[in-house]
Amino acid sequence: MIKVSPSVLSADFARLGEELTNIKNAGADMVHLDVMDGIFVPNISFGIPVIKSIRKSSDMIFDVHLMIDRPERYIEKFADAGADIITIHYEACSDVGAVLRDIRSLGCKSSVSVKPGTPVSSIYPHLRLCDMVLVMTVEPGFGGQSLIPYTLSKVRELRHETDRLGLTCEIEVDGGINGKTARAAIDAGADILVAGSSVFGSDDYAEAIRALRG
Ligand code: DX5
Ligand code: ZN
Repeated sequence: MIKVSPSVLSADFARLGEELTNIKNAGADMVHLDVMDGIFVPNISFGIPVIKSIRKSSDMIFDVHLMIDRPERYIEKFADAGADIITIHYEACSDVGAVLRDIRSLGCKSSVSVKPGTPVSSIYPHLRLCDMVLVMTVEPGFGGQSLIPYTLSKVRELRHETDRLGLTCEIEVDGGINGKTARAAIDAGADILVAGSSVFGSDDYAEAIRALRG
């Protein structure tokens, strides 16, 4: 079953707690939390205090996507704040393997992401340390962009490699996923679909999530 992880980047931040309840009731499997530092990406979103605060009122799986430089500095704080899955960026740290190990040792699921221009083979040496891999299907930084078609060939390549190695690590796609593009992402091998604007921009979250699963 394909999982859906709505990104709150497109939610109404003044009603964040309520929005989490709404997507949960609409059938979301987890919630995607985009943390941006204004350095790794040209945008700033929210961070540790916000995650800690929503953790108090939500039992959803927190899928935390760290678009921050040198994430190793903050892994423990995000784990303490209530993250369940922590994704770091391959491009943002020098010792990816060490950070992935750190994430697991704190009891969280480990994940690494690659930007559209980074070959997915860059992370192959670390695949056994990953519970999930996030393939960016847009340039990270902003919601509401269109999926870059060639990124799906990276998903296909990665799926082939995880199958070849017999790994259970899940593949997540993020950016420009909507009722029209979801099928191609699933066909390429994605297990988890992140969707911001196509869910939160819809009048009917349940219908939007259903449309993604196809
Ligand atoms: C972009 C973020 C995404 C974003 C997706 O840097 O990582 O999670 O919120 O938004 P949509 O689904 O609108 O492309
Ligand atoms: Zn994201």
